[in-house]
Amino acid sequence: DIPSLQDVLADDFRIGAAIDARDIADPSAQLLGKHFNQITAENHMKPDAIQPTEGDFTFDAADELVDYAEANGMETYGHTILWHSQVPDWWFQYPEGHAEAGEPLGSSDEDRQIMLDRLEAHAGALAEHYGDRIWAWDVVNEVISDNNAEIHRHSRWYEIFEGPEYVSHAFRIAREQFDAVGATDVKLFINDYGTENPGKRDNLYNLVADMIADGVPVDGVGHQTHISLNTSIDHVEQSIEKFAGLGVLQSVTELDVAIGAPGEGEEFPQYEARLIEQGHYYRDLFAMYREHADQLESVTVWGLHDGRSWLRSLTEPRPLESPLPFSDQLRSKWAYWGIVDPGR
Ligand code: G3I
Repeated sequence: DIPSLQDVLADDFRIGAAIDARDIADPSAQLLGKHFNQITAENHMKPDAIQPTEGDFTFDAADELVDYAEANGMETYGHTILWHSQVPDWWFQYPEGHAEAGEPLGSSDEDRQIMLDRLEAHAGALAEHYGDRIWAWDVVNEVISDNNAEIHRHSRWYEIFEGPEYVSHAFRIAREQFDAVGATDVKLFINDYGTENPGKRDNLYNLVADMIADGVPVDGVGHQTHISLNTSIDHVEQSIEKFAGLGVLQSVTELDVAIGAPGEGEEFPQYEARLIEQGHYYRDLFAMYREHADQLESVTVWGLHDGRSWLRSLTEPRPLESPLPFSDQLRSKWAYWGIVDPGR
């Protein structure tokens, strides 16, 4: 019997997987239950899933995952309250009954108030429904720009507020709503990818530092960590060290390590060599994470196994991208062995 990830990492941090309903049916469920002690809903807790039409909340798919987690002694990490993607169209339009119903919102005070009321209703419904059954939420996701000079992502949220103030509003509203139902321990995270990129990292850091200075209730930083074999582990580490200085909680929220699909005409041994290289990469990455266990609440892989990786469904198909510790056949890869047996 091979060691479980959760036992090996028990003294360090929780180990999570992003899942949907497919993953809680056998044989996937056996793999999930053996190795992981936390889940994130890959899609079922996003705004479009929770509130497809205004005021109409649909929790069934998300509940199935939370119920499963509780029945199996796992924690649930909430993803996500405010995002620019997978948010229903109505959210950025004038409501029914308004003279301009269905038209895009502008950026007047009235329009901003509509956005804030919607945020309050949405966060309030999540708080009411889940209370403290979900220990942390990504309150905002991906608000930092990929253009480091621009700093803030110029999303519809940003446009309507003509700046980043909506981020602070989101944390204050979420805190109020969770506190109102007695869920005062629920932790509020800001989540982003590319936090290992020093320029983007510093922009995120400055935003979080400013919010803390202003008394905005932000508890944690989520490092998505969609990386590849070319990503510097030193950069991943420097980011954790930098945020440690702010005294915030940290989690790795969406880890995967892309190795590229087998190239046209590439011989099998070359591809196998990349899988081995990936094993060494996971080994070194987790050795670093474990050194920073005091800083990390949890490390989550974005998909239970390679066959469930989002990288396989990008518009440009990458059918054999294999970024995770377990293979399509649910076998333990070199990446898994790198985590549990770093002596290899
Ligand atoms: O549910 C519909 C289905 O009804 C429809 O027939 C089908 C046809 O394309 O699409 C289904 O929706 C898909 C959805 O996943 C659920 O499977 C969307 O097209 C697809 O775009 C969506 O992809 C998700 C992606 O976020 C969308 O932004 C991925 O599964 C999910 O892994 C990915 O996760 C994100 C994190 O939330 C944030 N960080 C980056 C990460 C990777 O992109």
